[in-house]
Amino acid sequence: MIVGVLKEARAGEKRVAATPATVEPIRKLGYDVVVEPGAGVAAGFADRAYEAAGARIGEATAADVVLGVNAPSPAQLDRVGEGATVIALFAPGAEPAVAGELARRPFTVLSMDAVPRISRAQSMDVLSSMANIAGYRAVVEAAHEFGRFFTGQMTAAGKVPPAKVLVAGAGVAGLAAIGTAGSLGAIVRATDPRPEVAEQVRSLGGEYLPIESPEVEVSKTGYAKEMGDDYKAREVELYTAQTREADIVITTALIPGRPAPTLITAEMVAGMRPGSVIVDMAAANGGNVVGTVKGEKTVTENGVTILGYTDLAGRLPAQASQLYGTNLVNLLKLLTPGKDGQPVLDWDDPVLRSVTVVRDGEPAWPPPPVQVSAAPAPTTTAEPPVSPVKRPPSPARRFGAVALGALALFLAAGFAPAALLPHVTVFVLAIVIGYYVIGHVHHALHTPLMSVTNAISGIIVVGALLQIGHGNTAVTVLSTVAILLAGINVFGGFAVTRRMLGMFRRS
Ligand code: NAI
Repeated sequence: MIVGVLKEARAGEKRVAATPATVEPIRKLGYDVVVEPGAGVAAGFADRAYEAAGARIGEATAADVVLGVNAPSPAQLDRVGEGATVIALFAPGAEPAVAGELARRPFTVLSMDAVPRISRAQSMDVLSSMANIAGYRAVVEAAHEFGRFFTGQMTAAGKVPPAKVLVAGAGVAGLAAIGTAGSLGAIVRATDPRPEVAEQVRSLGGEYLPIESPEVEVSKTGYAKEMGDDYKAREVELYTAQTREADIVITTALIPGRPAPTLITAEMVAGMRPGSVIVDMAAANGGNVVGTVKGEKTVTENGVTILGYTDLAGRLPAQASQLYGTNLVNLLKLLTPGKDGQPVLDWDDPVLRSVTVVRDGEPAWPPPPVQVSAAPAPTTTAEPPVSPVKRPPSPARRFGAVALGALALFLAAGFAPAALLPHVTVFVLAIVIGYYVIGHVHHALHTPLMSVTNAISGIIVVGALLQIGHGNTAVTVLSTVAILLAGINVFGGFAVTRRMLGMFRRS
């Protein structure tokens, strides 16, 4: 069968549903690929690049499987043949009338924005791919409007403070924005009603601003719920204080199935410094900021720029097309289990069922809900869960160990030659001090610590070399073992360090 790639009909759309790189995996599934003339030009992919990848340039609407980014225009849909499968972003959830409209046509319609957010479907999750790109682009747009550096600098002409970036909502787009702004050198703060994202914010170099409210709880679904009055009152306090300090505010707050919550009020915008920039990523859903104009840039009376762009992912068309195309390839893999160019719509597969808007001309929207869970499933067995945390020894065991050590020391002091006692004392003290010092060294510092142990091993080798020729067999054996072990430590340490340095070397 033939897979057709449409030239997007929507004005200003630069993305394309397949790139030359995604043509090959589609062909490996047994399909022939037809790309409409000029379909990828706006994203930087010429027709000849598709041809070089094995595609044919021609009419895509006549194909058996038609791929698009946005919903095809009515004129394009009129040309699609009976029994075909059309796959694009139809947004039937946002516009339920779309499903009814499409059901009048004699083909199957799959909507990529309906892929459920479950682990199995991650490789097809277009909303996440696009939100990731959009979060990155939101920072680039803000940096373009902001008349200053993001990073702090000490220059001969004076000190430049780092920009302060506030990110509201740490979902996919928010985390991408946090990482991007942090890598440009800004001080990044972020908040979200889901406390479980705090660790992710910190791992990207951001500071998590908690809102201390009894309503805050770990989400069971991976999505936020509508918060109550107590949370909202505290939220207002936090945003009022933070917006006064922030140079850039990026809002991404979303509660599925509801209009975007208003987070930044007109008073907060009025309290921001001139030259500050707000990127309201939720503009398409009603906006998180009072004063946002959907799709537009506005500048307030006090000189704050508000960006309400709704095409942020499309502003990186090559990247967005590549990721969207890969998401489509992964859906086609699921749709073509035999890799024989024959799509099979498995009705029992929750992913395929979720994305189906129309099945052979019959309306199939809305799909039954899919169990989405971000929280670990409860244990059903009667057995108590095995704790992964290592328990500290009981007081009785500790007391026993100390008593045993004291007895050994007493015996050593009583029976060993007098000259041995100071050595044993130093040895025991060295073990105790070493245990506490090294045990508290942070993991990140284990490499420099290894260098110190290399130096100690060097001292051991020198000591053992001095002892080895003294004639006593026991001393010779001990010295040999010491040289061997210390040698392994020294050369092994060098080998590991060399390997680690190699990881940072540019090829
Ligand atoms: P997501 O669902 O992964 O993240 C939304 C986050 O908002 C969640 O972490 C949620 O806990 C948080 N949130 C909910 N209520 C909040 C509140 N009161 N305060 C702070 N945080 C709150 O969604 P994703 O994929 O990151 O998308 C975020 C937004 O970006 C959506 O509105 C989406 O439509 C939009 N978007 C915009 C694009 C553009 O071009 N402008 C492109 C892609 C996505």
